[in-house]
Order: sequence, then structure tokens, then C-alpha cells
Amino acid sequence: MSFEITRMRENEIDDWNKVSWEAFAAVEDRLATLFYPGGLTERTKAYMGKSTRDSLSDSSYSYVFVRDSSTKQVVGVACWYFQTKDLSMQEVVDKEEKARKERAEQEPIPGINFAAISDFREAQASSKREILGGKAHALLKVLATLPAAQRKGAGAAGLRWGLQQADELGLPAYLEASGMGRPLYAKHGFNEVCELPLDTSKHGHPYKCTHWCMLRAAKCLDQ
Ligand SMILES: CC(C)(COP(=O)(O)OP(=O)(O)OC[C@H]1O[C@@H](n2cnc3c(N)ncnc32)[C@H](O)[C@@H]1OP(=O)(O)O)[C@@H](O)C(=O)NCCC(=O)NCCS
Repeated sequence: MSFEITRMRENEIDDWNKVSWEAFAAVEDRLATLFYPGGLTERTKAYMGKSTRDSLSDSSYSYVFVRDSSTKQVVGVACWYFQTKDLSMQEVVDKEEKARKERAEQEPIPGINFAAISDFREAQASSKREILGGKAHALLKVLATLPAAQRKGAGAAGLRWGLQQADELGLPAYLEASGMGRPLYAKHGFNEVCELPLDTSKHGHPYKCTHWCMLRAAKCLDQ
């Protein structure tokens, strides 16, 4: 099976988020339903849509669809973030603080567990700061394949699309892997650095949610 990648347009944000939701809602650790216990309601969709729309004003983000080349049907999605310049540690801390403030100012929305989402974001930020500091990097923020289309190469296609750009830019690549993504990333040159320091049991979540921080070294272009 072969795949092609198309960039998400602004009028396709809901479609992109729906694919991501369907993939994550089916994961055994049920993390998606801890974050969004109400499921994909109109209000949840509006919240996700606004977050995606806001990030589109930053050209460092790339949202893409993975399509079956013969039918053009969407089978998966990916979101990459390319930080092409080094930041000082102060800039990293300031960015984290800005995100923290925005989360604190977020009005409650029924069906969304902002406390759990915030803990996850804090765990992500602290691990990334420890591992990368302010170093330029490519970050795989989301990789998701519709359950019915999994294990046919779509995830690898979305992964390779970003890695090719990371290599052209001479950037290391970083991500937090789920149990499903972990073997795929290992096959593509990522090494585990540590587990994400996340304790979902304090939110009453009965499933184990282990994620691994993984790093792939920058490729030297003249090799
Ligand atoms: C991770 C994910 C994107 C992989 O997508 P995919 O289209 O199935 O990936 P590919 O077909 O390109 O690659 C499959 C490889 O991934 C790994 N993999 C995929 N699903 C897996 C599963 N359920 N259990 C273990 N390994 C799995 C295997 O290494 C597999 O290779 P193999 O089929 O040769 O054994 C997909 O499983 C998914 O959307 N999962 C839910 C969301 C998620 O966890 N995303 C990753 C967040 S970091």
C-alpha cells in the first residue's frame, strides 16, 4: 500500500481532529478519555478546533493528512513542530510559563478534564527541557492512524515525512511515544531517553499510561 501526504487546510481542522480522536480513543490506556471524558462533543470539537487554529498562526507547525494514494482517502494524521533556532534556557522557561498561564486562564468546559491535561503538558515540558534544553529540534506532536487502517504503513509515512525535513534542516527529532508508537519509532532510529513522569492515578484513572521520551540524533547531511 502506498501513501501520500497533504497539508491540512484551515477548513479541514475538524476532519483532522476527528481522525486523531478516533485513533487515540481506541488506545488501551484510555488517556484520551481521561482528558475528554465527555467524548467528541460539539464543545470538545470547538475547543480542539480553536487550539489547532491558534497554532496555525505559528509557521513552525505542520499539520498533515496521510492518504491512501489510490483512493485519496484519509487514513491518518500527523502534526510536526520544527524549532529551527536554538533558544536560551530563559526563553524556554518563558514559553512554558506563557503556556501555563494560558491553561490557568482557560474557562472550564464540560466534558474536558483540564487538570489532567495540564499535568500531562507539565510532564511533557519538564522532560523536553531536561533532554533538549533550548536546542533546535523537530518535534512529532501527534501521529495517529484510523484503527481500521493500522499496521499498513500509514504511521510510518507520516513519521518519515517529518524526519525527511528534520534531516534536511539538520535537526534532531524528539517525541513522547505511546506503547503503540514505540516499536515504530525505534525502527526509525529513535532511542529511549526516559519515561515521561506522569501519574494519572491521582485523577482516578485506573489504566497504566506509560510514555517514553525518545530522541533521534540529527543526521549529518554530508554523510
Ligand atoms: C502508532 C500508530 C500511529 C502507528 O500507525 P500505523 O499506521 O499502524 O503504523 P505503521 O503501519 O506504519 O507501522 C506499524 C508498526 O508500528 C508498530 N505498531 C503499530 N501498531 C501496533 C500495536 N498495536 N502494537 C504494537 N506495535 C504496533 C509496529 O512496529 C508496526 O510494525 P509491524 O506492523 O511491522 O509490526 C497507530 O498505532 C495509532 O494511531 N495508535 C494510536 C495513537 C498513538 O498511540 N499514536 C502514537 C502517539 S506517540
